Amino acid sequence: DARQQGQVIALSAQAGKTSFYPGRPSDTFGYNGSYLGPTLRVHRGDEVKVAATNRLSADTTVHWHGLLIPGELDGGPHQPIPPGTTWRPNLPIRQPAATLLYHSHAHGLTAEQVYSGLAGMLIVTDQEEQGLGLPSDYGVDDLPLLIQDRQFQDGRLMMPAGMMTAMQGRRGDTILVNGAPNPLAAVPNRLVRLRLVNGSNARIYDLSFSDGRGFHWIGTEGGLLERSVALRSLTLAPGQRAEILVDFADGRTVSLVTGPDANASMMGMMGNTGMMGGRSGAAGLTSMTVLRFAPRPMGNSGARTSAPDLLVPRVRPDPAKAVRRRRLVLNMGMGGMMGAGGGMALTINGKPFDMGRVDERVRLGDVEIWEVSGQMMKHPIHIHGVHFDVLRRDGGRPDLLDQGARDTILVKEPVELLIRFDQPASTAPFMYHCHVLEHEDNGMMGQFTVS
Ligand code: C2O
Ligand code: CU
Ligand code: CU
Repeated sequence: DARQQGQVIALSAQAGKTSFYPGRPSDTFGYNGSYLGPTLRVHRGDEVKVAATNRLSADTTVHWHGLLIPGELDGGPHQPIPPGTTWRPNLPIRQPAATLLYHSHAHGLTAEQVYSGLAGMLIVTDQEEQGLGLPSDYGVDDLPLLIQDRQFQDGRLMMPAGMMTAMQGRRGDTILVNGAPNPLAAVPNRLVRLRLVNGSNARIYDLSFSDGRGFHWIGTEGGLLERSVALRSLTLAPGQRAEILVDFADGRTVSLVTGPDANASMMGMMGNTGMMGGRSGAAGLTSMTVLRFAPRPMGNSGARTSAPDLLVPRVRPDPAKAVRRRRLVLNMGMGGMMGAGGGMALTINGKPFDMGRVDERVRLGDVEIWEVSGQMMKHPIHIHGVHFDVLRRDGGRPDLLDQGARDTILVKEPVELLIRFDQPASTAPFMYHCHVLEHEDNGMMGQFTVS
């Protein structure tokens, strides 16, 4: 908790050994430890001082995914931290309570560094949220769950490589939650809040409970919804977050499970034939357990026992105020896939990412509509420095799961995003990119200024 005035959050990106399985140490990266980083909890209104030190042998960055802050504080590819140096941004927290994350965004190295462990959770709280009486006993009835799939060989973490990996992103046969395989969470036998974060490089989760029980969806990337939504399953793409309330009052052990990833099955055939030579080709094709819950009596927090209908009112921009429409196509070109270059073309609007090129220039304070679509598979489009609303999907109304303030959304068919640009990015641009990290590193990214 960084609320005390003047307190500095120190993060050290470092290499280490992690034994995901006893006696099987793996080479990993972490912040302040050997894998992942501490959960940072900040309060709306804070000015958070950070000292991020790079103790690795390559450049890294610390990107605050979902934080609404100016471009030069964003921690994207334009704020590299060279080895042996410290970056000291002061982060103004001026947004509603939400579940965010931080991770490496080093140019061309994001996928490998995140896969190795450079990610953590960032929780913003505010008084409005605290007034709702939601479960908020951190680690007891308010659980941060960073979900990642990883590939293991003889109990050691391995980094899938090859053509399959470049095409569909790194996938794995094992799901880790907060860095643990086969996790079991002891929870109180009452209403519990789960902060679900998809920290995978590429896997899309289709989450539900093993006994089919319903739950209440209460929050998106941008914070709490206006009204809770009763659901039985929820899709979570890389970079996305969802907060849900689950009732464990019946005391029965139950698992959070995921269905097969449609993106993996589409590409999986090629992997299975060996054509692409990737051993993670089949990963993602099956249903898997994410984690098990063992409810038990654990005092009483005084938190509510049922999900509230009304959460936090939110004013979205008026679509009639949009001054401009832009189109982004996330391209995945098969042409030349087997060519001498060895890679397939991953671009946006036909252009691979170029650090030296500003793709779009937006005026500070403007409302715009961005129409985004993707080729060949579903792509999670993420836009820095903003929260947006989904106006339309595939020419019609948005899906139930499209609602709320978002920063990452799945596209294949065109979606229309309503965006107000309130954060300046004149000295350093913001990014927009596919959050399949291998796509991002290999060119499916662009940048824009706001001034
Ligand atoms: Cu979560 Cu541009 O990244
Ligand atoms: Cu981001
Ligand atoms: Cu993509």
